[in-house]
Amino acid sequence: MWQIVLLSAIVGLIIYMFYTHYILPLYHFKSKDIPHPKAKIVFGNVLDDWYHGSHVNQIRNIQNFGRVYGTLIGTVPIIWISDPDMIKEITTKKFHCFVNRHQDIPLTIDVLCYGIVIARDERWKRIRRILSPTFSTSKLKQALVVINDTSQQVVDNLIHSLSSEECHQTQAINYTKMYTTAILKSTLANSFGVYSDITRDGKLGKAIHTIFHNQGSAVMLASISPFLTKYFAKLIPGTFEAFNVLDDTVKQAIRARRKENPSNRRKDLLNLLLESQDSETLSEKEISAQATTFLLGGYESTRNTLIFATYLITTHPEIQQKLIDEIDSYSPDQESLTYDVISKLPYLDMVVSEVLRLYPSFPEISRDVEQDVTIAGVKLCKGDAIKIPVYGIHRDSEFWPNPEKFLPERFSAESTQKRHNCCYLPFGLGPRSCIGLRLALFTIKVFLVKQLQQFEFKVCEQTVTSLEIEAKASLSPLSDLFVQIVKRK
Ligand code: HEM
Repeated sequence: MWQIVLLSAIVGLIIYMFYTHYILPLYHFKSKDIPHPKAKIVFGNVLDDWYHGSHVNQIRNIQNFGRVYGTLIGTVPIIWISDPDMIKEITTKKFHCFVNRHQDIPLTIDVLCYGIVIARDERWKRIRRILSPTFSTSKLKQALVVINDTSQQVVDNLIHSLSSEECHQTQAINYTKMYTTAILKSTLANSFGVYSDITRDGKLGKAIHTIFHNQGSAVMLASISPFLTKYFAKLIPGTFEAFNVLDDTVKQAIRARRKENPSNRRKDLLNLLLESQDSETLSEKEISAQATTFLLGGYESTRNTLIFATYLITTHPEIQQKLIDEIDSYSPDQESLTYDVISKLPYLDMVVSEVLRLYPSFPEISRDVEQDVTIAGVKLCKGDAIKIPVYGIHRDSEFWPNPEKFLPERFSAESTQKRHNCCYLPFGLGPRSCIGLRLALFTIKVFLVKQLQQFEFKVCEQTVTSLEIEAKASLSPLSDLFVQIVKRK
């Protein structure tokens, strides 16, 4: 008899757990009166993203469900908000209620947990305060020297490949490959003063690629059961090895720097981190974590934006010509390319802004709700997760007429003034926005100007007619970009 009672209790418990864990979340948004696409049991809406791409779904969902809608990542409810006034409240005005970023996959890797991107509350505030001076104008001016060197190497290599007889002053270049190496070198040199060719075997670039691109499977596994994520995460192909490669690189750079006389050290990111440790504000783990974060965050996004920019400039010759005319009048040669000149070029700024509108490296921004709060009549509760569909907003015809078109003029001072400033968010907004914004824009601009001083980009046979993209942890091109370069003078 007691066996039957025990069995019934176990079965009852399993049914109850299944019901609360997998069935109840399906009704979460109904009870809150938030519109939402139909979700599947266990997976929620993850399979839609898997099939169609999360960036494509952002556009569809905004069209079908409006400026506030819900989706389930497995069993975890996410509230998506694309109303500019609400975004301003969340990212800026009521920042104290939304200090922390939401994590879809609670990975327990030190380099992530101790890094600024994942750090929460007081720890985040302390780290941000320590890191902020790295991106001051004077630090950026120092960075220009390194960016100039690495971009000059790119130009020299291109000139070299053109000067070989068989090319007849034109050459099809694999820009994906080229930017991968160049931006990795620039990031390593700028952040850690590492100039040795540790990028040669391609291990580091591959490791970073793995981390960004295997995330889809992690989300899929996490959706089955968030409790088991940390065990599943170990099964994601290559991810842990990739983090080890990164960790080794960073630790190697730290060891090398510590051997140097402190008074002779370069005043770069690594130095700032080590100095802050001297006053016991950053632990050893935190130092490695910030260094790794900068390598991860800075490299992938800058590289991808340069690939997208090169693709768009190549396929829009009239825009390219306008850009070349501007460059010729402000900075016709290497010597004239100073920090002040780069900061001034108005059309270049419009072009890069428009590239980032069409292809924002991070297609969504997330926040956790830290306390109950009502925004524009929508009640948000402590523990809710919020996402801002950056890609969807950037391609919303209400804010951007003809959203698929590459039109840098959208960013003229006049047009910008007429637009709500919260419908353009490639670097996020508010106190938690991208700390590397100016460094990233600067790097992208220097690489473009240096090349356009010397060459024109032209479509060649291998250039894809439409650039396919995928949105995982970052938005990236699916195939390699080939462009023909032609010497200008
Ligand atoms: C085109 C290049 C880049 C883009 C599009 C980009 C975009 C972003 C976005 C959207 C965020 C989240 C903002 C938010 O939640 O409101 C972010 C955060 C961050 N980015 Fe960037 N980023 C770029 C380059 C860089 C570079 C070069 C670095 C550093 C060297 C960097 C370091 C960071 C860090 C540390 C954070 C976290 C900030 C915090 O939590 O306080 N990023 N970035």
